[in-house]
Amino acid sequence: MTATWTEPGNTPVALLLLGKGSDPASERGVDCPGDLPAPSDPDLVARATAAKAALGDRVFVLGHHYQRDEVIQFADVTGDSFKLAQQAAARPDAEFIVFCGVHFMAESADILTTPQQKVVLPDLAAGCSMADMAVLGQVETAWEHFQDLGIADDVVPVTYMNSSADIKGFVGRNGGVVCTSSNAKRALTWAFEQGSKVFFLPDQHLGRNTAVLEMGFDLDDCVLYDPHKPHGGLTDEQLRDARMILWRGHCSVHGRFTVDSVREVRERVPGVNVLVHPECRHEVVRAADHVGSTEYIIKTLEAAPAGSAWAIGTELNLVRRLALAHPDKQVMFLDRTVCYCSTMNRIDLPHLVWALEELVAGRVPNQITVDGKTAHEARVALDRMLSLP
Ligand code: 13P
Ligand code: SF4
Repeated sequence: MTATWTEPGNTPVALLLLGKGSDPASERGVDCPGDLPAPSDPDLVARATAAKAALGDRVFVLGHHYQRDEVIQFADVTGDSFKLAQQAAARPDAEFIVFCGVHFMAESADILTTPQQKVVLPDLAAGCSMADMAVLGQVETAWEHFQDLGIADDVVPVTYMNSSADIKGFVGRNGGVVCTSSNAKRALTWAFEQGSKVFFLPDQHLGRNTAVLEMGFDLDDCVLYDPHKPHGGLTDEQLRDARMILWRGHCSVHGRFTVDSVREVRERVPGVNVLVHPECRHEVVRAADHVGSTEYIIKTLEAAPAGSAWAIGTELNLVRRLALAHPDKQVMFLDRTVCYCSTMNRIDLPHLVWALEELVAGRVPNQITVDGKTAHEARVALDRMLSLP
């Protein structure tokens, strides 16, 4: 008998940027106890350098490509989310991992490091609006419906790295895998060897772009599951016929690029190469010349000939850094409107100085910990990703 659908709790408001306190049951958290140095302090660079030197090999600083220049200069390693997960797992000797990135990345680092290591996120308000779009209760409601329909055994859950630890745990205990934007095709190929359908969380665009543009599926093979509608807003027949069940989530930064942005830059800059991240909408990726993760974007620019022109559809800190690194090429932002990731930008130099100085003083600020059961189940899904061929 099919269970009666009840509306799951609303997705919590993503962030309480101006508030105080934290909500341990969500990705939210805004409290940084202690006195942050003033942003105008002219000694911030010297203070960060001194604190890092005092900690020596005890600390390892990871920096995602979307971080500000003022922060990235102190990163021991920079990378996309896949490379940073690998790097976190490869540093068992570092007592502290300071993660200059967002909350779900720091959670993954905690899962992949030893119990003795401590992962620090310099500002707890550095969340991710996309990760917040999939809440465990909503996902479990969807899964129960798949069970009622008799399709759950055919469905393999795949979650993008950009999801909370408990979503990764759900995926791990239900036979699925984590993916990032640099290995989504490999993860989906693996998943379709395990079952005939994939339930892809939480980024509809990465799921659709990978399935249709890289794996030969039709758009009609994909359905969009809306957690705020009964049964996802889908009929039983749609769910039975679908190969890709896409969660209705997206990145608010990459979702801003439009086909008009692509058309407009092509008119303005003849011969321009349009290079976008796969979190962009399907029609934007189709209109672009190249698509790939942040690491792919960086490598493509490095290999590009002098004099070539590039319009990049990803976060602005990275695009600005690429423009400065390649003065012999014309590198521009795909859209005319400025587009930082506001949560990535929460990690600024005062927060980094504060976190490092707290560690020097023997206190561990803003430690990110994932409970043992969730960590164990999420690790299963992360390890499957790290061992993908
Ligand atoms: P990658 O680091 O996997 O390219 O993802 C980009 C992103 O949006 C991270 O939040
Ligand atoms: Fe999340 Fe998008 Fe920001 Fe990445 S760029 S952290 S996906 S909101």
